[in-house]
Amino acid sequence: MTHGSTNQLTFTINGELVCLKDIDPTCTLLEYLRQSDRMGTKEGCGDGDCGACTVALIGKGADGKPHYQAVNSCLIPLGAIAEREVITVEGVANGQLHPVQAAMVQLGGSQCGYCTPGFIISLFAAYYDRALDDMAIEGNLCRCTGYLPIRRAAQQMAAHSNEVGDIFSHTLERSSIELSPFNYGNGDRQFYRPARLVEVFALLQQHPNATLVAGATDLGLELSWHRQQYPVLISLEAVAELQVLEQTDESVEIGAAVPLSHIEAILHGVFPSLDEMLHWFAARQVRNRATLGGNIGTASPIGDLPPVLLSLDAELRLASAHGSRVLPLADFFKGYRQTDLQPGEVIVSILIPKAIAAGAVRRLSQSYKVGKRGTDDISIVAAAFTIDLDDRNQILHARLGYGGVAATPARAIAVEHFLIGKPWNIATVQQAKTLLNKAFTPLTDLRGSADYRQRLIVNLFEKFFVEGWADSDLTRDWGEVSS
Ligand SMILES: Cc1cc2nc3c(=O)[nH]c(=O)nc-3n(C[C@H](O)[C@H](O)[C@H](O)COP(=O)(O)OP(=O)(O)OC[C@H]3O[C@@H](n4cnc5c(N)ncnc54)[C@H](O)[C@@H]3O)c2cc1C
Ligand code: FES
Ligand code: FES
Repeated sequence: MTHGSTNQLTFTINGELVCLKDIDPTCTLLEYLRQSDRMGTKEGCGDGDCGACTVALIGKGADGKPHYQAVNSCLIPLGAIAEREVITVEGVANGQLHPVQAAMVQLGGSQCGYCTPGFIISLFAAYYDRALDDMAIEGNLCRCTGYLPIRRAAQQMAAHSNEVGDIFSHTLERSSIELSPFNYGNGDRQFYRPARLVEVFALLQQHPNATLVAGATDLGLELSWHRQQYPVLISLEAVAELQVLEQTDESVEIGAAVPLSHIEAILHGVFPSLDEMLHWFAARQVRNRATLGGNIGTASPIGDLPPVLLSLDAELRLASAHGSRVLPLADFFKGYRQTDLQPGEVIVSILIPKAIAAGAVRRLSQSYKVGKRGTDDISIVAAAFTIDLDDRNQILHARLGYGGVAATPARAIAVEHFLIGKPWNIATVQQAKTLLNKAFTPLTDLRGSADYRQRLIVNLFEKFFVEGWADSDLTRDWGEVSS
């Protein structure tokens, strides 16, 4: 059922075919680039935070067409780029400076130049997407030029990117974006990229200790930073069943391996709390690779999307060679980094209902992330709230999801129960705040103290109330405000 194995790994860099034999498929693309004297791509942090290592991969965009996608080469294992096309900073000047390079030179966008190759590639990818806004460079740090000249360069190019029609846009037109199945083995190391779920199950039976990998934005850290060894990796990127993204009037089903940047684009406007959290999730390079399945699969207590999904009553479709089941996300997390996933089981998709509670006329739903910096940072606390109200402003349904406050992402269930049947007003919120003070026992760590987290748990809910009223068309009801 699985395809024949090879000990050769091929891909292209700047149009040049690279064929590697007996290499370690968990070597990162950045390591390979620098070992092969392609020194333009820089290493800054080695963990996805600085963007100095940014390269462009040709891949399928949310519209199903080929796009240049900025990604962090320090996080990508070589196995993941098999039979794909990579563009590095050495490849963007085609006889003359590329327009993005020319604009950076003209507007003084570079001083020491260490970050510049990364910025050039982020801007290059955005140029062909006609998306030259701040989000294009949110994953690139510059420590000496300052962002103003770089943003000016982006703005100048934005005025011209509608006229794009050069060798790079022609390359995109003839690029293949369907990932082919690929099995690599060199004795010690195996890297599989199956196309169907049934092949994943077969591989997991054959290699019970294999590790699943999707975008590798989490696992890549283990490779790059912790030098963790993974003898057998099974990539989920090409598995058709994990790439679905379907909507009906009742619900949305998101394949576990759909990149977050696709979810951002395709589901925009469907779930405001998901839109908001995705906006603050890492940065463009990470969202181009990271998946929902990976965010849930890590079972990190500070994963940003589980609180949102908990507040939306999401369920997981899980499957193994023995069958499939649907499990509420709330029942998935069992303890610190422990889940209900059984051996041989895979997260296939995430199901999110759209319907609001029976009898409700209005849903308030929003998410909040508090970190040390705006973009590309991990949460101190993340929270997401959903409240359904009837025509008398009574609460019919309440979900309060939190991250960063316990060993797992968690709901404040006692507070949810308290809220049902109460009027949605400041008096109710004040009482809920008292209960929220007792709902969790957060820890102190290098990101924030337990006391700070406790305050966030409470204050974010109050903020949700205040903001909910700001755009509410219901009659204001401040109720009795307790002192
Ligand atoms: C610079 C940087 C910034 C980040 N910022 C954020 C942030 O703002 N918020 C946040 O929440 N996270 C953040 N992360 C963490 C990471 O990007 C996310 O957790 C991401 O969603 C992981 O998805 P992935 O596809 O890359 O997972 P991978 O790294 O491929 O896999 C992660 C884990 O999940 C398992 N897994 C993957 N898919 C499945 C599946 N279908 N079934 C079962 N198990 C599976 C893998 O075996 C692995 O253990 C950041 C990471 C970096 C490097
Ligand atoms: S080296 Fe910093 S993001 Fe890769
Ligand atoms: S130009 Fe020096 S870090 Fe950006």
